[in-house]
Amino acid sequence: MSLPDPFRVAIISDLHYGSPVEAARGHTFLNRIQNPLRRWLVKQQRHWIWLREPWAHNHLLDRFIAEAATAHLVVANGDYSCDSAYVGVMDEPAFQSAADCLQKLRAAFGGRLLAVVGDHELGKMMLGQKEGGLRLASYARATSELALEPFWQSRVGNYVFLGVTSTLLALAVFESEALPEELPEWRRLREQHLESVRRAFDSIRDGERILLFCHDPSALPFLWREESVRARLRQVERTIVGHLHSKWVMRQARWLSGMPRITFFGHTPRRLSTALREARHWADFKILLCPSPAGLQLFKDGGYLTASIDPSGRRPAAFEFHPFRWESREAKVPSLRPK
Ligand SMILES: [Fe+2]
Repeated sequence: MSLPDPFRVAIISDLHYGSPVEAARGHTFLNRIQNPLRRWLVKQQRHWIWLREPWAHNHLLDRFIAEAATAHLVVANGDYSCDSAYVGVMDEPAFQSAADCLQKLRAAFGGRLLAVVGDHELGKMMLGQKEGGLRLASYARATSELALEPFWQSRVGNYVFLGVTSTLLALAVFESEALPEELPEWRRLREQHLESVRRAFDSIRDGERILLFCHDPSALPFLWREESVRARLRQVERTIVGHLHSKWVMRQARWLSGMPRITFFGHTPRRLSTALREARHWADFKILLCPSPAGLQLFKDGGYLTASIDPSGRRPAAFEFHPFRWESREAKVPSLRPK
C-alpha cells in the first residue's frame, strides 16, 4: 500500500487537562507550601510567569482535535493532567484528568494516536515544598488503566518513530524524589526500558531516518551514554521534546547549560541544575520543542507542531508551529488574593 506524500503528523505536548474534580482544587494546592515567603514567591511565579490557571485551557484540546482532524498520525508528547497532588495518576482527580484527555484524543484519532509518558503521569515533587514525587502506583496506573506504553515504535516508509519515557531514562535525576523502598523497582523498570530502547536502535537499518519523541530533554544525555543510540545518532533527524512549555524557557535552558550543579536551596534547583549541566548533549539529538498549548502566562506563546514528511526520506521533514491565540477570558487577570 502506498503511503500519502506528504505524510502529515500533528504533535501536541503538555496538555495538562483539568477534569472538573481536579479543577475544583483551584489554587488550594499551593497552600501546602509551609514557608510563607516561599509560598508567596511560588504564587508570584505561577501568576505572572508560568501559568495562572493550568486547568482552565481545556478548550485548546478541542481546537487541536479539530485542526488536526486530517493528520495521518498524531503524537501526544506527555503530561495529560495537572498533577495537582504531585504524586501522578495514583491521585484520583489527576487520573480523571489524564483519562478524560486521553479518551478525547483516542476518540478523535483512534489508532492514529501515539502517546508518550510524561513526568506528571508518574509524579513530581512540588516547587517550594518537599512533597510528592514519583510513585510506582502511578506508573502501574499509567501503563494499565491509561494504557500508555513506556516505549513504542512505528514505521512510516523510511521513517522510524520512537517514543521513550524520560523519567525512567533520567532516573538518576529523580531518584531523590522517589520513596526509598520503591527505588529497586524503579531501577529494574529503567533497565527494562533501556533494553527496549537498545533493541530498537540496534534494529534501525542504514538509510532509515529516526524521529524521536521524548517528553523531558533531561533524558537525552542518558540516552547519549548508550552505545546503541550513539551508533545511530546521525540518523536521528529530530528529537521532539515537551516539558519546557515555551521557546523562551528552552532558550534560557540552553543558555544555562554547562552551569555547575546547585546542591543547596533544596530539591528543585538541584534537579534543574543537574539536568541543565548535561544540556550540552541536546544538540546531538537536534531537539525541537513542542510548546504547551497555552504556553507561558507571560508570553501566551503556546500552540502545536505539524510535520510534513516524505515517507521515502528523500526530503527532510518540514516542521511548522501553529500558535494558539488566547481568548480574552483566559487573558483576564484574576485577583492574587490567597484562595
Ligand atoms: Fe513535564
